[in-house]
Amino acid sequence: MIRVGVNGYGTIGKRVADAVAAQLDMELVGVTKTSPDYGAEAALRRGYDLYAAVDDQAAAFEDAGLAIAGSLADLLDAVDVVVDCTPAGIGERNRPIYDAHGTPAIYQGGEDAAIADASFNARASGDVSEADSLRVVSCNTTGLSRLLAPIDEVYGVEKARVTLVRRGGDPSETDRGPINDVVPDPATVPSHHGPDVNAVLPDIDVDTAALKAPVTGMHTHSVNVTLEREPTAAEVRELLRDETRLFLIPERAGIDGAGALKDYASDLGRARGDFWENCVWEESISVEGRDLYLFQNVHQEADVVPENVDAIRALASDISREESVARTNDALGVGLESLLSEDGAPRDQVAADD
Ligand SMILES: NC(=O)c1ccc[n+]([C@@H]2O[C@H](COP(=O)([O-])OP(=O)(O)OC[C@H]3O[C@@H](n4cnc5c(N)ncnc54)[C@H](OP(=O)(O)O)[C@@H]3O)[C@@H](O)[C@H]2O)c1
Repeated sequence: MIRVGVNGYGTIGKRVADAVAAQLDMELVGVTKTSPDYGAEAALRRGYDLYAAVDDQAAAFEDAGLAIAGSLADLLDAVDVVVDCTPAGIGERNRPIYDAHGTPAIYQGGEDAAIADASFNARASGDVSEADSLRVVSCNTTGLSRLLAPIDEVYGVEKARVTLVRRGGDPSETDRGPINDVVPDPATVPSHHGPDVNAVLPDIDVDTAALKAPVTGMHTHSVNVTLEREPTAAEVRELLRDETRLFLIPERAGIDGAGALKDYASDLGRARGDFWENCVWEESISVEGRDLYLFQNVHQEADVVPENVDAIRALASDISREESVARTNDALGVGLESLLSEDGAPRDQVAADD
């Protein structure tokens, strides 16, 4: 069993904690919080041991009647890997603490790439077996890397151009915006997302331009890739359909946006309505000469979660990347396309009828 601690139990941390707890080869030792709020209470109700991220805050948890299992130092001494899910920039401050405890660490995409030995995406990054620390790239970069890696392998990417319409904030972030506008953010091109893709796919020529919109559900990417070869749109669809962490939204599904996607995930019984897969509109996949076009959505709160699980195995085991991805997908239920047949009936139903 790989013993795991999650430092920072917020949007990403609580999902990573649940995903770790669902793995047969991992044990979630505990999670940290700085404040004794509803998130801390929910962690305890879920049966997770709670540790104080900041020593002088421990008394506040006791005052609130929330039992604390120990300090961050105690957690670090009890785990094989710590997953840092603290707000952007705090991971950099935590790094010397992890190093002092000799605890291999995984950081998130809000940190600079230099924080870790390597940046990580399970589909796209190269060999990381020598790394003692990893940085799971951001939600947008994860979405782009998963998409561009298979396209580059099969057709060659001459140049990718992506416009990212980013969600203004997560649903719980009441202080984020904009609330009544769509703003270029940054107004300069390229945005940092293209260079971040190069942290895991160094040879891909990709430019990104980014905006922020007053929505909380998902990011939307408008993708144009000039390819080295000239496939048909049908061939690209089949290529992407074979990727377990890409969900091709069938036209017949009647899904027209992030709201319906989240509704679908909720209807499937997925906790928090999470979509771990990129969601690619199947009918948007078009080829004009060597230019490929498509739209995809990525659920910013969720797509990095399976990647964190695979990053844990990459740091703390000899399990192959393929085996890790298979285990993670199996434990979480990642891989939706297989649920739908060509005519829209659930595949189980088709098999039974056959
Ligand atoms: N949200 C996204 O869409 C998203 C997507 C991909 C990657 N990321 C990246 O993931 C990281 C975490 O983002 P997030 O959205 O999950 O942030 P978040 O929702 O604000 O959660 C951060 C958590 O860290 C805790 N924390 C704050 N200061 C801390 C400290 N000094 N030590 C330990 N824990 C501390 C907070 O606890 P308290 O509430 O108790 O203070 C909170 O539980 C960032 O690098 C971000 O860029 C975010």
